Amino acid sequence: MKIISDVNELKTYLKTQNETRGFVPTMGALHDGHLSLIKEAKKACDFVVVSIFVNPTQFLAGEDLDKYPSRNDADIKICALAGVDVVFLPQKHNIYGHDEVSLKAPNVRGFVLEGATRPGHFDGVLTVVNKLFNIVNPDYAYFGKKDAQQLNLIALMVKQLFLDVKIVAVDTVRESDGLALSSRNIYLSKEERKEALKISLSLYEASKMLQKKIYDAKEIKVEMSKILEPLEIGYIEILNRDFEMIEQVEIGNTIILVEALVGTTRLLDNIWL
Ligand code: PAF
Repeated sequence: MKIISDVNELKTYLKTQNETRGFVPTMGALHDGHLSLIKEAKKACDFVVVSIFVNPTQFLAGEDLDKYPSRNDADIKICALAGVDVVFLPQKHNIYGHDEVSLKAPNVRGFVLEGATRPGHFDGVLTVVNKLFNIVNPDYAYFGKKDAQQLNLIALMVKQLFLDVKIVAVDTVRESDGLALSSRNIYLSKEERKEALKISLSLYEASKMLQKKIYDAKEIKVEMSKILEPLEIGYIEILNRDFEMIEQVEIGNTIILVEALVGTTRLLDNIWL
């Protein structure tokens, strides 16, 4: 496995590789969720690149950029064991210069849900993912369904900027008790870890209601918010796959999304129906 930090070195190396190229962009602190992205990439592609870069432009002032877990040595070992071909490990100066050209997330989809509490977050995500796509030039790129809004916006960017990469959405990986894996779970105390379970339980409640043929979005949201109590709810939203609000769940075209604050940690989860 090669570890490369320099953009030109990586581009030159990749020019010598003609195999189907899969790409898994990450911010490091790899867990089983990332591993499932790598496994999917390995299944479909002969050559897999993983990037590890804590992208500063997607953090707003006062957010946890400095606190963001960094474990490069462990991450590199995980990639090597998983059969990754190249780890791209740039520094900030390899990716960003001065007086930057940047992308702007769409005004509606980019500034609701996560984008409402973190305005500008998706500008940073799209800017860096576009740069990474231009550097790695992948055939396939893998993203987790857990970050549904990010996935939706990246797919939109690929379509609207006519980028030549196929986006693959990979199912959320959960702990045995249902908690969705996230790099932020390490911030939870033992008590908070228990409280955090209310998030996946609320989604489980929604799926039970659907089994009973209750499709009304308002009714589902009310029941979910009862389960989430006393957590501070960021949002519970029921959207179609185009990220538009819907009043009735349409099986095959719906995502139910939750964001809640557990202690000081904001956690996301969702189910795709
Ligand atoms: O999901 C993440 O880890 C990041 O937002 C991404 C896609 C690697 C861009 O920095």
